[in-house]
This record gives sequence, C-alpha cells and structure tokens, in this order.
Amino acid sequence: MTLPAETGREISEQEIAALVDRFYAKVRQDPEIGPVFNTFVADWNEHLALLKDFWSSVLLASGRYKGHPMKAHIPLPIVMEHFDRWLELFEETAHEVMPAALASMVVGKAERIAVSLKLGLYGAEAFPSMSGGG
Ligand code: HEM
Repeated sequence: MTLPAETGREISEQEIAALVDRFYAKVRQDPEIGPVFNTFVADWNEHLALLKDFWSSVLLASGRYKGHPMKAHIPLPIVMEHFDRWLELFEETAHEVMPAALASMVVGKAERIAVSLKLGLYGAEAFPSMSGGG
C-alpha cells in the first residue's frame, strides 16, 4: 500500500487493536452510550475481534470484515446524539494510542462512516443544513 502523504506511514495492526480495545473499554463505562452496548453486545471478545477486523479492512484494506454495519445498527435503539458521543470518545482514544497525523486520518474515516450510517438510519432529516428547504 502507498503511504499517504499526510500521515507519513501506514497505521499498524497493533495500533488498530489498541484503539479498539481502549475505545470499547471507555464505551462500556459511558453513561450515555454504554447501556446500548452493554445490552446488545452478547460476547465482548467476539465484538472486539469483529471490530478489529472492521477497522483493519477500512484502514488497511485487509478484507477481513465481511459484515453489514448498517444492518447491524437498524434494530438498535440509537438516537442521533449517540453518534456525537461515540465520535467524541473515538477521537479522544485515537489521540491516546497513535500519533496525531494518524489519529486525524482515522477520525476522518469514522466521521464519514457516521454520516453514512446516520443517513441510512434517519434519512436526510439527520442533516437539516443539507436539505435546502430551510
Ligand atoms: C461511526 C460510528 C460507528 C461505527 C463505525 C460502528 C461500527 C460498528 C460495526 C462495524 C459493528 C459490527 C457490525 C456487524 O455485526 O457486522 C457495530 C456493531 C454495533 N454497534 Fe456500532 N458503529 C458506530 C456507531 C454506533 C453507535 C452510535 C452505537 C450506539 C450508541 C453503536 C452500537 C453498536 C452495537 C450495540 C453493536 C453490536 C450489535 C450486535 O452485536 O447485535 N454503534 N458497530
């Protein structure tokens, strides 16, 4: 894979694993979004392994993740504000486990995925400023 000019080097599998482990450790204890995860994640070892595969596929094109994130979120009681908290914790964690340039790149990916999940879950209503109608 080519090195993206803005990050200087590829992210490593170790950094991805550290990000996922530490992020979900915070998520599980978070008063706002923790309850959704603690109710719906049946097996945390499985969830962490799946999410490492997901991020490895997104960030390193490893192809290890074969699932459908949208489908997985449709049945969950997620409100739009949950995405703000999710992204806040994710950004904080990324900066704790990797250099700033890599963290910004990873957060940028997460923000784009959040937009597409929100569009799928809530439609254009999730983005009033883009609806054009005022
Ligand atoms: C950009 C934001 C997010 C990303 C990238 C993301 C990513 C993922 C992925 C890849 C999965 C695994 C899907 C599968 O089974 O194949 C998953 C599952 C899950 N996500 Fe998210 N997610 C995001 C936001 C959220 C939010 C805001 C919540 C709730 C507050 C949430 C709650 C969950 C739960 C509970 C599961 C497990 C579902 C189950 O195993 O039945 N996610 N997420």
